[in-house]
This record gives sequence, structure tokens and C-alpha cells, in this order.
Amino acid sequence: MVQPSREEVMENTAQLKGNWGQKFFGNNNPLVLELGCGKGEYSVNLAKISPEKNFLGIDIKGARFWRGAKIALEENLRNVGFLRTQIELVDQIFGENEVDEIWITFPDPQIKYKRTKHRLTNETFLAKYRKILKPDGVVHLKTDSEFMHGYTLGLLHGLGEIIEYAHHDVYGSEGAPAAVTNIQTYYENQYLEIGKKITYIRFRFR
Ligand SMILES: C[S@@+](CC[C@H](N)C(=O)[O-])C[C@H]1O[C@@H](n2cnc3c(N)ncnc32)[C@H](O)[C@@H]1O
Repeated sequence: MVQPSREEVMENTAQLKGNWGQKFFGNNNPLVLELGCGKGEYSVNLAKISPEKNFLGIDIKGARFWRGAKIALEENLRNVGFLRTQIELVDQIFGENEVDEIWITFPDPQIKYKRTKHRLTNETFLAKYRKILKPDGVVHLKTDSEFMHGYTLGLLHGLGEIIEYAHHDVYGSEGAPAAVTNIQTYYENQYLEIGKKITYIRFRFR
């Protein structure tokens, strides 16, 4: 687990930027981020399924990912870590083309207009993701929020980005990718209990 100060991030004093593979994981395997990871279900479970990749869960609330970090330690998972920071800083924390995949799992939809700047798929965030992702890198968005799903699809269409897969009800459809239907997060389980549909988009930047 790492918790860099804002100064450490801005000045790259830990020299992690561009070197996460070697400096944090001790290898150069593909790097996958989970943004707003909460307890880190995606980071931990994907790490178990894909030992050939490195996973980093990011959240501002360290107490939440304590659970994921505990499982990683208990199960000696060497390919998963957690980073306590603001997602706004991702383009300072990771080098250009350093990241292979990004998962955004059940982000707060920030429905009010005034909250647009905090919505994790707004144009500013998308520009940051584009910068840190490899050219063929993908973004996965899983959410219960029809608003977030529609907003993101509309924005991606408008920007001409490449939508590889989109569905408004992944558990009610055949053909949703296994990683989408085989892993549930803490928030997701609560939504499923009250019968909410779970949506998913996988996209790339053109
Ligand atoms: C609704 S929760 C979802 C947590 C988890 N992905 C799940 O599905 O159970 C959203 C999470 O995103 C984190 N978060 C929201 N905005 C953030 C930001 N700008 N930087 C870092 N973390 C953020 C919150 O702390 C919270 O843990």
C-alpha cells in the first residue's frame, strides 16, 4: 500500500511515475488500475485470475481498501497493491502509456450539474485516462447508474471514441464478459439485492 503526499506526487520523489512495474511490483507486467476501488474486490479478484498482470486499487478512503489489502497479504498475492490518493492526480502519478487497463467500479454518479467536475468519466478525467493508457488500452465502466451509463455513452459517441461493448443489464444478457459477471463489489451487491440493473461499457480511445 502506498500513500504519497501531494508534494511527493507533484515532485515524483518516490520516482514511481513511469516505474510502477519495477519499483512497486518488481516486474514489467501489464498494469491495471481500479479507480474508486472501495474494498478492492476487482483488484483482488482479477489479481487471482490473472497472475501475469499487476493490479492497483486507488481510493481516497484508505479504511475501505484495508479489506482488500488484508486479503492480498493473507493470500500472498504479489500482483496487487493499493494506492491512497485522489483520482484527479492519476496523470501525475503514472507516466504516459504506462497503464494497460482501467476499471471504474460503481463510481458516485454525481448527478447534480454542479458536481459534473467530480464525475469520473467527464471530459477532463477521460483526457487523463487517455494520457496514461497505452494506445490500445481499455477502460471498463461498471455502474448501477443509468444516468452515468447514458452520460458516458453520449460523451464517448460525441468524442468519437471506440465503444467495444455496452449493455444496460449485464446479468440479463448473454455474452457479457466473464470478468463483468463473475465479480461483484460491495456496492454492487447492495444494488443487486434491491433488483437494480447493472450496466457496463468497455471503450478505447481512438
Ligand atoms: C460508490 S463507492 C464504490 C466503491 C467500490 N468500487 C464498490 O463498488 O464497492 C465510490 C468510491 O470512490 C471513491 N472516490 C470517489 N471519488 C474519488 C476521487 N476523486 N479520488 C479517489 N477516490 C474517490 C470513494 O472514496 C468511494 O470509495
